[in-house]
Amino acid sequence: MPIVAPSLLAANFLHLKEACEMLNKSEADWFHLDVMDGRFVPNISYGMPVISAIRKATTKVLDVHLMIEEPGKYAATFQEIGANILTVHVEACPHLHRNLQQITSLGMKAGIALNPHTPISAIEEVLENADLVCMMTVNPGFGGQSFIPSMLSKIERLKEIIIKKGYNTLIEIDGGVTLENAAEITKAGADILVAGSTVFNAKDPLKTISSLKNIL
Ligand code: DX5
Ligand code: ZN
Repeated sequence: MPIVAPSLLAANFLHLKEACEMLNKSEADWFHLDVMDGRFVPNISYGMPVISAIRKATTKVLDVHLMIEEPGKYAATFQEIGANILTVHVEACPHLHRNLQQITSLGMKAGIALNPHTPISAIEEVLENADLVCMMTVNPGFGGQSFIPSMLSKIERLKEIIIKKGYNTLIEIDGGVTLENAAEITKAGADILVAGSTVFNAKDPLKTISSLKNIL
């Protein structure tokens, strides 16, 4: 059974309270929160004030995905406003090992995100310092894009490495997850399914979350 982490990026921002209440009563495990700075990715989403407000609306895990340059500058602030997991992009971190140590020492779980073109070898040396790897299966910056099919074998390869080395690192899949491809993605080795448009554009989001949770 995968961990299901709906992304609020696809929610109606005029009704965030209702979105949080829906997730609270759903089978969703985590809230996935996408922070974009308009530099690392060509889009700007939301930041600290919104996450602070969401923190007050749920006791579930806040899984914060930073698509920003210089994430180390803001790690302590995200901890203060209640992030439980903080994920940084390897492409934005010339000192990734230090970033992971910082996040861990602040008491949060540390994640590494990987763009579709970035090889697994870019993170192998620090895999043991990460609680999760967020494998991007679309180019980050926007919701509602299609899953890049070649990412399936990338998931399998990462899973193999994690098992071989005996690490506990979880694989999170972010981008283009649908009810049609979720089983295949989970079989390939995903532990966590992020889903934005699939959940929030659904006629019945609660049922959709339940279907993702019980996909295998
Ligand atoms: C994309 C974000 C994703 C996004 C996923 O840059 O990291 O979390 O919200 O959206 P969907 O599920 O619609 O592809
Ligand atoms: Zn994300």
